Amino acid sequence: MPNPHAFIPFEPTSDDIAQRGWSLQRDAIDADLVAALARECRARAAAGELSPAGIGRGDGQQVREGIRGDRIDWLEPGQAEPCDRYLALMDELRLRLNRELFLGLEDFEAHFALYPPGAFYQKHLDRFRDDDRRAVSAVLYLNPEWLPGEGGELRLYLDDGSTRDVLPEAGTLVVFLSGELPHEVLPASRERLSLTGWFRRRGDGPL
Ligand code: OGA
Ligand code: MN
Repeated sequence: MPNPHAFIPFEPTSDDIAQRGWSLQRDAIDADLVAALARECRARAAAGELSPAGIGRGDGQQVREGIRGDRIDWLEPGQAEPCDRYLALMDELRLRLNRELFLGLEDFEAHFALYPPGAFYQKHLDRFRDDDRRAVSAVLYLNPEWLPGEGGELRLYLDDGSTRDVLPEAGTLVVFLSGELPHEVLPASRERLSLTGWFRRRGDGPL
């Protein structure tokens, strides 16, 4: 039966985040919604609406393909129905993280990202020197039938010195503490789509 909320309860999130700083769930989002988001991302790409991603924030922003080679477009409320549904789901997750982990997350920003074949994003943290509002990252993958040999893994650098590679398979959602978990995107042999977002705290200057 289709899930009317298009959301399988994301139960492990809070415990996993509290204990190890990250959480992963396959088939976290209704498959029809994931497919609609992939179509929206491809439509924006075909319309020339994706721009080379920058590094950093505001005036300090630079496009440096040696660091990241994806092209992005931000989600704004009211643009497209599947995006609005996704934003609503992420707001539910935001409230639950606040309830269960007292994170004080205030809002959510997200963009589509398209990595052409061979593009990558070097090891980094999702917190800028000049903007520490990003507290929790949430990445949803939009690629049906991704095969292990195709590359494009999200590589997480864990506390114990080991790494964990995540295939960017449609429906997989990875949630992690933005300032604490270094990660990178490995190059792929095919186009790779993701929807990357950040729950943010109130902006009241350096912590
Ligand atoms: C990012 C990022 C991961 C991914 O945009 O900061 O790390 O798998 N994306 O797309
Ligand atoms: Mn990142």
